Amino acid sequence: MPATVILGAQWGDEGKGKLVDRLAEEASWVVRFQGGNNAGHTVVLGDSVLKFHLLPSGITRPSCNLVLGDGMVIDPWVLDKELQGWMESSGEDPRGHRLFISERAHLILPYHRYMDSLDTKIGTTGRGIGPTYADKINRVGLRFGDLSEVVGDDAWASATSERMNAALVAAGSSERVDAKGLQSDVAWIHQTYEACIANTGLMLDNALKLEEHVILEGAQGCLLDIDQGTYPFVTSSVTSHGNATHGAGIHPGHVKDVIGITKAYITRVGHGAMPTELDDEAGHHLGTVGHEFGTTTGRKRRCGWFDAVVMRHAQRINGFTGLALTKLDVLGGLEEIKICVAYELDGQQITEMPSSASALARCKPIYTSMPGFPEMSLPEWLAMAVHANEAGKGIGVLPTAAQLYIAQLETLVGVPCVSVGVGPDRDATIDCL
Ligand code: IMP
Repeated sequence: MPATVILGAQWGDEGKGKLVDRLAEEASWVVRFQGGNNAGHTVVLGDSVLKFHLLPSGITRPSCNLVLGDGMVIDPWVLDKELQGWMESSGEDPRGHRLFISERAHLILPYHRYMDSLDTKIGTTGRGIGPTYADKINRVGLRFGDLSEVVGDDAWASATSERMNAALVAAGSSERVDAKGLQSDVAWIHQTYEACIANTGLMLDNALKLEEHVILEGAQGCLLDIDQGTYPFVTSSVTSHGNATHGAGIHPGHVKDVIGITKAYITRVGHGAMPTELDDEAGHHLGTVGHEFGTTTGRKRRCGWFDAVVMRHAQRINGFTGLALTKLDVLGGLEEIKICVAYELDGQQITEMPSSASALARCKPIYTSMPGFPEMSLPEWLAMAVHANEAGKGIGVLPTAAQLYIAQLETLVGVPCVSVGVGPDRDATIDCL
């Protein structure tokens, strides 16, 4: 079996966790390849709502192996808390059995969180992501595979804490790093994770040679990509297809399907332009019916109409083979649904995203309008999805206006939909035929 890549096609929070959790039923491996605990994935299992920031969404499938890959930045304390929660609810300690951490993945230490807490410009999640990637690029970062070498090394601890403190002073922070504290931190991290630190790229390559199915689970979304997103209001990693295999330590030839996840509308957290952002009744509807609050920081998400300009950009970068549309149910009850097809920038109509943040902020959306479809309760949507899948009817069970809306999105983006999400439950997803 080849690898499948699952990516956010917008500004994150598209519902990747739910799709990965669903696909993981038939996968042997789920791999995170970039980012860290700035991501937040929610999986609804009956009455339980599980929230993950680091553990790949396949954790709920006992036969699925989990990898925190080469391109990630990992906060060991957050991972520990997530593992404790998982062990309490499931009785399973997956470390070294089915959970593996790449020896190349970088560590987020308290210093990185202190530095990130000084951000006022980007609206980061404050989890230390950017400062950890900065250390990686500056070639002074600490990787999981290096832990055994630095444990007990006084010279390393004192030089590292001196470097960190100089940076904290220069940045105007009152926080300081103590060499002894750093020593005990690395000793604890080493002891806690020793059993699961591995050459995960090699493990995945071997698994693929044995025809095992590997899912590469993206975090954030295309518009938050450090190169291809709305710079500088982006995250610090490459969130796109090009990094999926690289950040997992395997080659791109393994990939067959690239699924782009997109909400039936659009949301964003943090600062930066979002041309279709709504500040009206429709925006209020999307935010309240869609429960648009961040899984990681609890911040209110900004909501807007589906933006086909954004999606075409995401398609060009990622080459999606299919779209997984999520949260279609949230649009139920709106009389009119708008889709942004182009922008007006300084009096000119444009159909491609400008790369400059200030130009994007001046873009005004040009809309096409579609008729809405009725509101339904979540149990009604769930029953519809279950019936659609059991009877092999696909999206033919949806109201006609909803089917037309989906067809319009497919035409505008140029990619077919493979599934349509109509509620938070694991089974509230209709497979397209
Ligand atoms: P950072 O990734 O914490 O550095 O934050 C940089 C930008 O990316 C901010 O606008 C965050 O709100 C945004 N961001 C980071 N992770 C996510 C995510 O998982 N979903 C949505 N936005 C995110």
